Amino acid sequence: MTSTQHTYFQNMYALNADPWNFATSSYERRKYALTVNSLPRERYVNAFEPGCSIGVLSELLAPRCERLLATDIIPRALEQAISRLKALKNVVVERRTIPESWPDGLFDLVVLSEVAYYFDAETLGYVVTLIVRSTTPGSHVVGVHWRGETDYPLSGDRAHQLIDKNAALQRVVHHEEEKFVLDVWERTT
Ligand SMILES: C[S@@+](CC[C@H](N)C(=O)[O-])C[C@H]1O[C@@H](n2cnc3c(N)ncnc32)[C@H](O)[C@@H]1O
Repeated sequence: MTSTQHTYFQNMYALNADPWNFATSSYERRKYALTVNSLPRERYVNAFEPGCSIGVLSELLAPRCERLLATDIIPRALEQAISRLKALKNVVVERRTIPESWPDGLFDLVVLSEVAYYFDAETLGYVVTLIVRSTTPGSHVVGVHWRGETDYPLSGDRAHQLIDKNAALQRVVHHEEEKFVLDVWERTT
């Protein structure tokens, strides 16, 4: 199994504290709003957001969750996430590598925002297996990914096709436009 090397992200954050302009881009702001507004339920009990970066989406997800676990691998990103989210007592920020340090517990919402294409197909398949194992029927899984050319192991579209292959997940929301694809799956079985 392979994933994009951690040094790639380390270098990105060393050069720029917000390498994808999550905090300032109007494109990201609109995409985040669509993501949060696509959640089928008003409230979730226990949500997990791997690859949270500096916590901009986490801040928008938090009001919809009783508890949100937001994780990343890069300390410079996590420091910013902790600072941004410190007033939100329902959010826990942790350093965790996915899939190696998958958290214990049952989640009713898992959000994969711009993170699934950093895994190869086999690893993403394993990540989806872990998601299915740590959710119950009725839980939701969100995927939202850039559709443009990259040198990542998977394209955004391919990542969503692979997630969709898992028989325990049924797609309940699909939105696609030139730059990104957004899907919500419900855990069925
Ligand atoms: C493009 S950013 C996405 C940030 C956030 N999800 C959003 O949409 O605003 C990808 C993040 O995933 C993190 N990441 C990459 N591979 C990871 C892994 N294997 N485990 C946990 N986090 C990872 C990176 O450090 C980076 O901060």
